[in-house]
Amino acid sequence: MKYLLGIDLGTSGTKTVLFTEDGLALNSATEEYELYQPHNGWAEQEPDDWWKACISSVKRVLAESRINAADIAGIGFSGQMHGLVMLDENGESLRRSIIWCDGRTAGECADIMNRVGAKRLVELTGNQALTSFTAGNILWVRNNEPEVYKRCRHILLPKDYLRYKLTGKPGMEASDASGMNILDIEERIWSEEILKKLEIDPELLPDVYESGMLAGHITAEAAKLTGLKEGTPVVYGSGDNAAAAIGTGVVEKGKAFITIGTSGVLFAHSDSVAVDTGGRVNTFCAAAQDSWAVFGCTLAAGMSLQWLRNNFFLPEMKVAEGLGKDPYTIMTEQAERVPIGANKLLFLPYLMGERSPILDPDARAVFFGLSAIHNKYDMLRSVMEGVVYAQRQCLDILRDMGIEFKELYATGGGGTSPLWRQMIADIFDLPVVTIQNREGPALGAAILAGVGTGLYPSIPDACRRIIKQNSPQDPIAANSAKYAPYYDLYCDLYPGMKNGFKTLSKL
Ligand code: XUL
Repeated sequence: MKYLLGIDLGTSGTKTVLFTEDGLALNSATEEYELYQPHNGWAEQEPDDWWKACISSVKRVLAESRINAADIAGIGFSGQMHGLVMLDENGESLRRSIIWCDGRTAGECADIMNRVGAKRLVELTGNQALTSFTAGNILWVRNNEPEVYKRCRHILLPKDYLRYKLTGKPGMEASDASGMNILDIEERIWSEEILKKLEIDPELLPDVYESGMLAGHITAEAAKLTGLKEGTPVVYGSGDNAAAAIGTGVVEKGKAFITIGTSGVLFAHSDSVAVDTGGRVNTFCAAAQDSWAVFGCTLAAGMSLQWLRNNFFLPEMKVAEGLGKDPYTIMTEQAERVPIGANKLLFLPYLMGERSPILDPDARAVFFGLSAIHNKYDMLRSVMEGVVYAQRQCLDILRDMGIEFKELYATGGGGTSPLWRQMIADIFDLPVVTIQNREGPALGAAILAGVGTGLYPSIPDACRRIIKQNSPQDPIAANSAKYAPYYDLYCDLYPGMKNGFKTLSKL
């Protein structure tokens, strides 16, 4: 029996999952780490925390499964996108990574648009210059930490750092590289024109390959640290959303998924480069060659619920611990008892500013309509509803662009909550389907490993063999009708607050 290992480098932790060739998850281990927020709107993580989490999660999986490490046919990655990793000439990380939900680079983004020209930038990269996309982060370090920049010899993305530590070879692939604002996404190569205009030395960047290609092998040193077998093949892997697409079988036209993890993403597959010229949603390369993704990203989706839990639901966390339950299960039961509309309370989930569709790093979260009648359970329900309204705005834009799908696959932590899934079905008026194997991005990473090592002929073939759907959760018309006026009001709120957010950011 051969096995595949999927390593998913997320924001709250790194999860390693061991799969059989048939995509059955044998066991998994997650190791958590810190999110550093040194200023309001900044977000950083320590690359060596990711590496330590990778080592210990791999070790735990190997120990618990008791398989022979030599039977692992290949290793693949899924990783949080956009984060900047800078290495010196010895391959040591030079600073904390500025990650995907950091909003500090508005000035650098304006500079990028100026130097490249907004129209040309979108033509080449599929996206406007956005805060937290890697080019802005690179320029920020150059402007603010010139000593660090001078010592930088390699630029990588988060999961590429793990692959580098495991194989000793720096490398990148198109799905993640397309979130850097410097990749020509049609050709899937670095844009020399953009690099020149931004004065970024191409020598700092590794070549770009495809997600399912062989990238290297486990080194002797990595084998010693992790328990993996020296020489085990490692593939490039992909950005987390591209991996989740594979793990939910969203690899052909007409298919889409929604994930509520730390961020929330509504992702549609496309056979060609489809771009929203207003930049309200993003276009990236998908993991398979000749495929792309159009998606809207809500920065603080699961993060909003986590924030609420950590600040208001400590008693529930204690009870959950005592019962050996997930605190979110208890919270979901509480939210279910609150009526649709949360007793006239709305939440705008802009804890980290917002990407789709408002593109505003200065925006901040709002409870709208808070009254003395409300309690924390109303707040809980309104947070869950607000995240879905934010994602519904992304759906409206995809529909505007002519991208259609008849059902939605659900994954991520939020996808495991029947209440959240029903909200999605009702607010989107679409059936929501889960996949029997719930591992999403880690499964996608393992499938890429299987493709790169010849176990599967192609990504679509592997998906046909492995991905099995559960029966759909259908929208309930009476619920949809109740949500509709709240969604309309939600859409009206931000425009009236935009200037206030700008003023607040300057105080
Ligand atoms: C996508 C994005 C997030 C991160 C989260 O553009 O920024 O979904 O990938 O891990």
